[in-house]
Formats: sequence, C-alpha cells, structure tokens
Amino acid sequence: ESIKVFAPATVANVVCGYDVLGFAVNQPGDEVIMKLTESPGISITKITGDEGRLPLDPKKNTVSASVQHYLNHIGKPDTGIEIELHKKMPIGSGLGSSSASTVAGLFAVNTLFDNLLTNRELVPFAMKGEELACGYGHADNVAPALLGGFVLIRSYQPLDIINLPHPDDLYAAIVYPEVDVPTKDARQMIRSKVFLKDAVTQWGNVAGLVSGLFLKDHELIGRSMTDILVEPTRSILIPDFYKLRSLAMKTGATGFGISGSGPSVFALTKDEATARAITQKLQQHLKGIGINSLSFVSEV
Ligand code: HSE
Repeated sequence: ESIKVFAPATVANVVCGYDVLGFAVNQPGDEVIMKLTESPGISITKITGDEGRLPLDPKKNTVSASVQHYLNHIGKPDTGIEIELHKKMPIGSGLGSSSASTVAGLFAVNTLFDNLLTNRELVPFAMKGEELACGYGHADNVAPALLGGFVLIRSYQPLDIINLPHPDDLYAAIVYPEVDVPTKDARQMIRSKVFLKDAVTQWGNVAGLVSGLFLKDHELIGRSMTDILVEPTRSILIPDFYKLRSLAMKTGATGFGISGSGPSVFALTKDEATARAITQKLQQHLKGIGINSLSFVSEV
C-alpha cells in the first residue's frame, strides 16, 4: 500500500511579518510517495526534480529526518518506510521548497498511521526539517503548508499558531528569477538588532496587514506590505528588485515584496488577470537584463 501526497509552496513573511506570517498557494508544490516496508528504517528510493542537489542519506534529507522524528514520537522508531520525492519547484527559490517536501512527508506518514496527530500537531516536526535545511526552525512556511490559507505564528515559545481569514478575491503572482539565494545565507545577512522607532513602524504594518485580512480591505493590506527591517538588505540579492516593484505596482498590484528569503518576488492582486499581467511584465523585464525566470499564479 502506498500513498501519494502533494504539499504546496508558501509565501513566508508576507513582506512585513518576518518569521511570523505566511500563506499557501495552490501551485507549485512537491509530491511524496510513501509506503511501509518489512525491513526496518527509512530509505529514500528516488528523488526527481532536484538536479541531484538533495541528499539521499535519510539522516540528512529533511523529509526522512522529520518523518523519523515523527516515528520516534509515536513510539515506532524502527518502522520500515520507503520514500519517493518528486520536487515540482526550484530549490532555494524562497517558495518554501524544503517545507513543501517535509510537510508532504509528514502528512503521508501521519495518514499511514491513521492520523494519530492533527495537522497542527505536525507543525513542530516540520520545523525540525526547516532547522536541518537552513539552521533555524522557522514555521512561516510549514504552518501554512500544513494548515492552508494565511497563518500567523503569534509565538514560537510556546508555539501559538493562528489561522487568519483573507478576502475571497485574493490572488498571488509569483516570479522566480533564476538566481540562487540559500535561506541560510539570506538569514545571516540580516541585522540582528533593530531601533525602537523601526520596530514601531514594523509592528504597525504587521497589525495593519492582519487587520486588512480580517476587514477584507485590499487597500489596507497593500499599504501595510512594507518592510523596513529585512527587505532593504535582502533586496540586494534580487536583480532589479525596486524596478520589479514599480512595474508590479503600476500593473495593479495590491502589494509587492520578497517571497520568504527570496529570490522569488510576489504580488497580491484582486483578480487573476492582473496577477497574470504582473508575471508577464516582470518576466519580460528580467529577460531584458538576461535573467531567466519562472512564474506562478494562484488563488490564495
Ligand atoms: N521567514 C523565513 C526567512 C522564511 O525569511 O528567512 C524563509 O523561507
């Protein structure tokens, strides 16, 4: 008996909410095929779509490592499991690529064990996978990948995850410029100390964004999507970031910013046609400066 699970890409931070906000999209996403076997231990039998970049060693691969944590937790550490991982999105893209694989694996194993845990209870196991992938167990990709929609990590210790509402008519336009930005490096480059006046600006925007989601107020969502703490530093890694922003805004974006740790950028829009027009404009611009890109449009 084998099971196939899809888990979606996610946009973490949502501009102002570094490590505390994220949302899931419908596509792209990763796929895990899992089956129980007689012989004990986890093995990864196949990985596709990773250009040979991901480890097959079950201790180093984030999918198997977090599945092992799960098995230890339920008291069945020696369970035999075979995993196939099919990556359907680029690695190091800022789309929660490691998170999607890990979440698909955990969802699969939990299903094979008759849903012993809820999706919410799977979050800490998925965070272990993130820790392995980038050195820190941030939850702003894995929580929305597991729970869907917009999610707020109100607190990490103790973990307190809140599902947020959002306007029905909300679309995401995502463009991935094909330059590599490892999350680990993109985290290390951020200043660890901030000025109080900057913190005031930032938490005003976070509260504004959350209010906008509750009030279904696109304008408020858009004007809250500014980030003075992280974006100024990380934007350096993204080709023509500010030009991309102005193109997106001119084309009708509600708001625009870096997806997760980049280099992907995203815009929120009120309709699908605008989202498509934005991806087209941004891709055209990137092409003009010699950078290949991929794009995705999704309802949120
Ligand atoms: N919050 C994380 C970061 C998301 O910005 O580093 C990484 O996808």
